Formats: sequence, structure tokens, C-alpha cells
Amino acid sequence: MEFFLILSREHETLPLAELESVLLAENIDYKLNTISTGIIQIKTSNKEVYSILGERLAYTHEINQLISCTDLSNIKKTFSWIKWEDILGPNFAVRVKKVSYSEHVDCQDLERSLGKIIKNKVKEKSSVKLEKPSTFIRVLITDFIVLIGLRLVKIDKKHFFKLKPHKRPFFYPGSMSPKLARCMVNLAQIRSGDLLLDPFCGTGGILIEAGIIGAHLIGVDIDDKMVQGTIKNLEYCQIKDYQVFQADARDLKLKEKVKGVVTDPPYGISASTAGEVSEKIYQRFLESIADNMLENSRICMATPHYVNLKPFLKHKLKIVDRHEIRMHKSLTRIIYVLKKVNKGSSY
Ligand SMILES: C[S@@+](CC[C@H](N)C(=O)[O-])C[C@H]1O[C@@H](n2cnc3c(N)ncnc32)[C@H](O)[C@@H]1O
Repeated sequence: MEFFLILSREHETLPLAELESVLLAENIDYKLNTISTGIIQIKTSNKEVYSILGERLAYTHEINQLISCTDLSNIKKTFSWIKWEDILGPNFAVRVKKVSYSEHVDCQDLERSLGKIIKNKVKEKSSVKLEKPSTFIRVLITDFIVLIGLRLVKIDKKHFFKLKPHKRPFFYPGSMSPKLARCMVNLAQIRSGDLLLDPFCGTGGILIEAGIIGAHLIGVDIDDKMVQGTIKNLEYCQIKDYQVFQADARDLKLKEKVKGVVTDPPYGISASTAGEVSEKIYQRFLESIADNMLENSRICMATPHYVNLKPFLKHKLKIVDRHEIRMHKSLTRIIYVLKKVNKGSSY
């Protein structure tokens, strides 16, 4: 089956990395092709791929099943060949979107013409309905190709707004946005049933997102106020499968090894010596954490740009991916993905 996805443009590298991580985490066979910036085609034998991705992705807008490809000069002809009666429900809408196509196109006019072609073919079997149609036909115009698809998922971002840090019962400044937290859980290649640890859990934002996708959770914070706050927030989100306790992330000894670590350690940029202090926290955390992780499992962590992780990784962890998020003039957040290296690996 072939699908095309419209990714968010809010970051250059995270949306595609997130998509590939979820495909890998969910053991989905796939071939991926970038049609144009933010437009990704996926070939897979997995018929459920759209609902799996739709449930998990933070930085994707739409998932469409490919019906046909053409070019702009042949689009009406192509529309008249498609067996619409096999595709449409009781009503439909055609929506045209232009991405990376420099020439002028009157999208509304094209939508009307294409809608008429369909209507002439299906007659009374299906009617035009522009609001909430049962069948949504997506036409995507790029510089090289026009994609025609059946929209299967429009990813609902309401959840990310509803659970913004200040809307949860326990709030503390410095909490991460739910969207980035979800993306980081995805980058760690966690799936439902896996055990995930956030050793600097703060208000529990990362744990909430991992809990929603069905992970078992361990949350740790050195500050008991944060521990109690995280528990309050998890309960508010009706997440039950968690252990949250007070401990020091620099010296953790868990009973069970985890499948992934996703975390946002303190930045400590306000005090003059804090840069050095937070470096030490990162160092001691990274030197001890691998012993609590399963082989080949991943860490996804946010760091400020001025902390260099490389000297702290020793032989147990390696950097597999890195993304930059510019926060403001003096702070860039780096999202690192690290992997626990196999014993005996030459790395
Ligand atoms: C940047 S905040 C985490 C924010 C979190 N991602 C959220 O969404 O709320 C960092 C947290 O690390 C905790 N912390 C600092 N040093 C720690 C340590 N050595 N061990 C465990 N937690 C620590 C702080 O109490 C703070 O809650």
C-alpha cells in the first residue's frame, strides 16, 4: 500500500526523524521517499500503518492513501479515469493544496472543477459536502508531481493544547511542551508496553505523553514537590501504570532495566556557575544510566547547546541523532538521541 504524509514545517529535521522512529519502533516494513520538503511517500505491506502513525505522531498533519499521481496538465483527465464509485462514501469534498510549486494555481477553482468531474461520474451515489465529508480527497501539487489521495487521518493536535503545562493541576515553570515531549518519546523508539524512565521528571510532561501511547512509566526527581506534582498530573490524565519516586538521577539503581530514557535535565543557566553545575549533572547521569538500560535501548534527551555530551559517553553510549531547536538568541536546545552500545561492539 502507498501513502503520502504532510509533515509539519515547524522544524526542519524533527518531523521526518519522528516518523522514521515510530515506523522502526512499531516494526513496520517501509520504503520512504521524500517527494518534496515535508511531503513523504511511504510504501508498506502494513494496512494499519495510518492508524498507528495517526495515534502517535506529533509533527505530522495528514496521512493520505495514494490513489494516483499525475501532473498538473493531466489532472482532469486522471480524475475522469479514477473509479470514484469504489472510493467514495455518501458524500465527499476535494481539497487542493499547493506545496513547493512556484506557478500560480487557483486552488478553489480547481477544487470545483475536480468535484464536478467526480459528481458527473458517480451521479446520485455521492454528493458534495464541504464540511466534514465522509470522504476527503486530497490533491497535492508539488513542483514535480501531483498526488491524489484519500485522506485517512488528520492528526488531532487538540490534545497538545489541552495538556499544555499551565493547564495541568500541577504547574512549574520550565516544563516542556507536550508536542516536543511526544516527539522525544517517539525518537526513543518506545512502544506500548515498554518500560520508560524519565529521571528528571519535573511536572511529568514526558511521562504523560509516554503514558498516552501505553508505556509503563518510571519517573524520578530529586525534589519531592515535583514527585507529588507529577503524580497529581498523571492521575489527572488518567494514567495509572506508573512508579514515581524521589531519587538522584546521578546515582540510579533500578530493579528492572528500561527500554528507553526520555528526559529534559535542568539547564541551570540563571546562576553564574550553573553552566558548570549542570555539566556535572549530565556527566554523572550519563556515566551511570546505561546500567539501568536494556541493550540497544535509547535515550532521547534535551540539552542546552553549551553542554558537550561526547566526553561523558564513554564506551556505553553513542550519539545516533541530533536536532537543534533555537529557543532565543542565547539558547539553542539540542535534542540528542543516544543508543546503548552492545557489549563487545567495536564502537
Ligand atoms: C527541566 S526540569 C524537567 C521538566 C520536565 N520535563 C517537565 O515537563 O516538567 C528538571 C527537573 O530535574 C530535577 N532535578 C535536578 N537535579 C536532579 C537530580 N540530580 N536527580 C533527579 N532530578 C533532578 C529538578 O527538580 C527538575 O524538576
